Order: sequence, then structure tokens, then C-alpha cells
Amino acid sequence: MAREIIVSPGGKLQGSIRIPGDKSISHRAIMLGAIADGMTDISGFLEAEDTLATLTAFEAMGVKIKRTGKGEVSIYGTGLYGLKAPEAPLYLGNSGTSMRLLSGLLAGQSFDVELSGDRSLSTRPMQRVTDPLGLMGAKIECDVDGTPPIRIYGNQKLTGMTYDLPVASAQVKSALLLAGLYAEGETCINEKGILRDHTERMLEGFDYKINYGQTPDGHRSASLIGGGRLKAQSIVVPGDISSAAFFIVGACIAEGSDLILENVGINPTRDGVIRILKLMGADIQVLRQYQAGGEPVADLHIKYTPLNGITIPEEFVPLAIDEFPAIFIAAAFAEGTTLLRGAAEMRVKESDRIKVMQEGLSTLGVDAEALPDGMIIRGGERDHLIQGGTVDSQGDHRIAMAFAMAGLRAKGKIQIHDCANIDTSFPGFVMLAKEAGLNISEQT
Ligand code: S3P
Repeated sequence: MAREIIVSPGGKLQGSIRIPGDKSISHRAIMLGAIADGMTDISGFLEAEDTLATLTAFEAMGVKIKRTGKGEVSIYGTGLYGLKAPEAPLYLGNSGTSMRLLSGLLAGQSFDVELSGDRSLSTRPMQRVTDPLGLMGAKIECDVDGTPPIRIYGNQKLTGMTYDLPVASAQVKSALLLAGLYAEGETCINEKGILRDHTERMLEGFDYKINYGQTPDGHRSASLIGGGRLKAQSIVVPGDISSAAFFIVGACIAEGSDLILENVGINPTRDGVIRILKLMGADIQVLRQYQAGGEPVADLHIKYTPLNGITIPEEFVPLAIDEFPAIFIAAAFAEGTTLLRGAAEMRVKESDRIKVMQEGLSTLGVDAEALPDGMIIRGGERDHLIQGGTVDSQGDHRIAMAFAMAGLRAKGKIQIHDCANIDTSFPGFVMLAKEAGLNISEQT
């Protein structure tokens, strides 16, 4: 865990680069491909630690998966009931998406299974999935404090239900829809806020019927009826907007930047970072829009322009939930104050992202005040650049990459500790950042 990144001041982001595949979509492609009838081919698959944890878990459950080239994966689906009991607990590393979605998918199997994770994942809340799965008839438990490991007991009869999500979590929604495939009757999930809808879109791609609706109080809902079949398909995974976010912010803050990011997923349930930065005055153009694998994709063209602080509209929070570490860096260089509220979920991500970002920003001399559910950042005057210094990412990949981008405009060197987990979502980040114009190096 000793990997460190060092960014020297100066530089601007230029040229045209391609961001690795979307993490959320890559996880789902493996999961649905594994339980489909027939062979699913994936291209653009993200070969990162988190998504490979999902892939390895399905191999351990008897699914034949061939990696045929870079980002090319073929999955020989076993059908809904063809998974086999793994010989050991499934170890999912740092990946909350693997653990929560698998909890739902495995609640309806005929075998017992245990899910475990690394130090960070072992502290994350799991009752948000185990409680509602219990209501569907699953026999599933986590530790007394609501954290992993999760134990799932097989051969339970699941029944569909209508469930109002108490937290704005696409992982919980997805877990329940996946359990719903194995349940009798209809499973209907009423959202809280607008949540990413990759599971529903991909299920439709596998020819599984999803019904969309709205609750009387205006929340979106998605439902399905259990017991159907998934028909194998070919999936093209777009570039991950959450990974693109670091480069978007980098180009927004570094004078003279002019950058194109090719083939980025711009699903409207994920594009909060673009909406928020545009409200701050950013020059981001969405070019060459097209559809791939049921998802909207585009090239993004970002040019440097000075930013202003804003109050971030709360309805944008779930649309940008993973992007706030990067957005905070943009806010530090914006003129005026940026206020974020309604983002308490940030405290239960791979780290407590409100606390860790506030500490890092303060170390670099930025006026950042943590709130229970957000942050106030009082941005510098345009000629008041943030200081160099040493920050600790506390093993959180997105915090490490966000602070790396801050180096473009800092007064001195920024050294970032504990960066190994960048590989959970973005292997090759340092090389790509260097290619785009960052003065970045790493040491282990
Ligand atoms: C994800 C949903 C989000 C996000 C995570 C990936 C997904 O988590 O933070 O990185 O793939 O469904 P929550 O659903 O817990 O907000």
C-alpha cells in the first residue's frame, strides 16, 4: 500500500484520449452474462481490480469466462439456475458494487455462500441490502454491526415485493431487482432521487421485460416479474464518466487546456459532473452522440475557462455521487463559494470522502469546511493558487486521482500517499495523465 504519486506544478491537458471502460456496466455485464442462456461477448470491459473480483467470483461458481483480448471477454452463460456452490468464500476486495449486487443475485440460489472484502469494504454498511432481501424471504446475514462478511443460505423461496428505497442507492435497487429474477411475482423498486439505471437497461438488452413507472409522490420506479430467462447478447462498454471526471476537472482548471475524451458514457443518470461543472461556467461540449449497448455515449471536448463557485442543486447529488472528490478540486480553483448539501452518502464510500477530502484540501491551504452531509469550499482568487504538500488518500482511488489533478494548478509539488487502490477502477491512470500533460510520477 506504499504506492505514492507525485505531481509537479504546471502543465495543461491536451489532445484526444480514451478513458477505460465503465465500472458499473462492466460488473453488470459479467453478472448478467453469467446467468443468461448462451454466450455473451463483452468489449471495452474494464480490467480493473473491482470488476475482476466480480469476474473471479463467477469463475468460482463454475462459469466459464474467456478473456480473448484487451477488454474482450466471452462468458458462457449457465442460465438462471446453473451457478455452482463455490468452494471457498467469495473475496471481493474493495468492491462494494460486487458485494451488494451479488447479495441480491445469490439470495435465490440453491447453495450457501459467504462474501468478504478488504479492510475498507469490511467497514461498509450492508443492512441496506440484507434487510430488504430478508423481506423477500432470503436468509442472509452480516456482522452484528451491519458490515461484511455476508452469509447467504440457499434454497429459500423468494417473493416479489414493492419497496421504497430508504437510501439513494443504485446498488440497493440493483440487488433487489437481481433477487427479483428469482422471486415469485413482481418486484417493484421505488427510487429515492434519480439513480443510475444500468441494471434495467442491460436487463432489457438481455431481452428481459422491465416496467417503468412513477409513484404518486413523483418517484421513479422499476419493476420486473421473476422466473423469466435472459438471452445472451453482445455488450459494448463505454468509457467511464466517473474516471473521465478527473480529466474533465483537470482540463477545466489548467489554463490553456483543450482536451477531447472519446467514447464516454453520458447516461443521464450519471452525468451530474458535466451539469455541475457547466453551472460553474465550464466549457464542455458533448460531441458525436450515439447509442452503444443501450447506453448513450459521446466525445467530450473540454477547454479551460475560469470557474465560479455555486450552490450545487441537491437533485444533482445522486447523478454525481462518485465525482465529488474531483468536483471539490474544481471548486477550490473557482472564484467564490461552492456549497454541497444532501451528500451524506459520501461518508460511506471507499472512505469517508467528506472527511478525507476536507483534510487533504486544508493541508493544501484550501478553505474547506466539512458539513455532516456536504462541504463548503471558499475558492481562491484566480491568482491565489493552492499550495503544494502531502495528502493521504487513505486508500481511496477517487481521492488519490482528484488530488493528482490539483497538481496542475498548485504552487508546489503535491505528494499523495496510499495510491495502490487506483487500480480498483483505473489501471493506467498515471500513464494516461502523463500522456495528456500532467507532470506526474509514481513510486512504490
Ligand atoms: C454504483 C452505485 C453507487 C456508486 C458506486 C457504483 C453502481 O453506489 O457510488 O461506485 O454500480 O450501482 P450507491 O448505489 O451505494 O450510491
